[in-house]
Amino acid sequence: MSKTTNQIKPSEITPESAFLSRRRLLKSAAAAGLIPAIGCDAAQIPADGDFSNLKAWPSSVTEAPNSYEDITQYNNYYEFGTGKEDPARNAHTLVTSPWTVEVTGEAEKTGKYALEDILQPHTLEDRIYRFRCVEAWSMIVPWVGFPLGDLLARFQPNSQAKYVQFFTLNDPNQMPGVRRNVLQWPYREGLTIAEAMNPLTLLTVGVYGKVLPNQNGAPLRLIVPWKYGFKSIKSIVRIHFTDRMPQTSWNMSQPSEYGFYSNVNPNVDHPRWSQASERRLGSSLFSSRIPTLMFNGYADEVGDLYRGLNLVENF
Ligand code: MTE
Repeated sequence: MSKTTNQIKPSEITPESAFLSRRRLLKSAAAAGLIPAIGCDAAQIPADGDFSNLKAWPSSVTEAPNSYEDITQYNNYYEFGTGKEDPARNAHTLVTSPWTVEVTGEAEKTGKYALEDILQPHTLEDRIYRFRCVEAWSMIVPWVGFPLGDLLARFQPNSQAKYVQFFTLNDPNQMPGVRRNVLQWPYREGLTIAEAMNPLTLLTVGVYGKVLPNQNGAPLRLIVPWKYGFKSIKSIVRIHFTDRMPQTSWNMSQPSEYGFYSNVNPNVDHPRWSQASERRLGSSLFSSRIPTLMFNGYADEVGDLYRGLNLVENF
């Protein structure tokens, strides 16, 4: 069973230095053939919340990850408040076990699945990704997860499944923020089926070798590293295969500012601010900004998905 955030003692959180040196050790041990270069056999959430024996993804970025504190204390999770510090303060009321994910729409296998059944056959990996928020700040985050496409394939989507939509839990008893109409609840997001099947797209259960804290979207969230952070929907309770471009929360809220694609694109500004550069979280407010990369630096992996698409119109 997973631990909720308040069950994980601070002493159980791996210090970044220990995490990184262990990771280097594992990598070199694997390279030397001392340990098999595979991840956990099955992606069950371990009782102690520790995923330390993971295969490091070879294409992880080499930039230094942000601190555990940056990643878990400065969040966007409007179900727990609109301030950056609200989720860490308020998300302890989210009950992440038991957890059920409902699969609906254009697929052979639909129905309700316990989280354990969702995760069971998958191999977890340790992937360090760039994460770029539409608000023009960014982080480097060591996620723990497995490719979303591997899960979706198990449901056997049919030829009508052109898009996949995701929904977050919507429970006013656990989520004080949904009592206010700052967005239309439940929070929802969507991808084309090709984006969803791309091997970069990650279903995530942990960060820094530990179970996801609630404020980061426990027990199961999406990470789409070439899109603005708001596509990375948290605490997923439903996956819906559909033939139509699905509704997404931020597009419903401000259609002129947030499009369906939401690819990180330094050449297309947000109507109210530039997207050409970003501030890496943790660095001084006064330090110089770094240039934003097309598709957040993942152009080689995902550029082909958008060949021929007008990225100014399809922002
Ligand atoms: N998912 C839900 N359910 N609710 C939210 O408010 N915020 C999004 C995204 N996923 C959000 C969400 C936004 S705007 C961002 S930038 C990222 O989560 C932030 O992820 P993080 O808190 O792990 O950094």
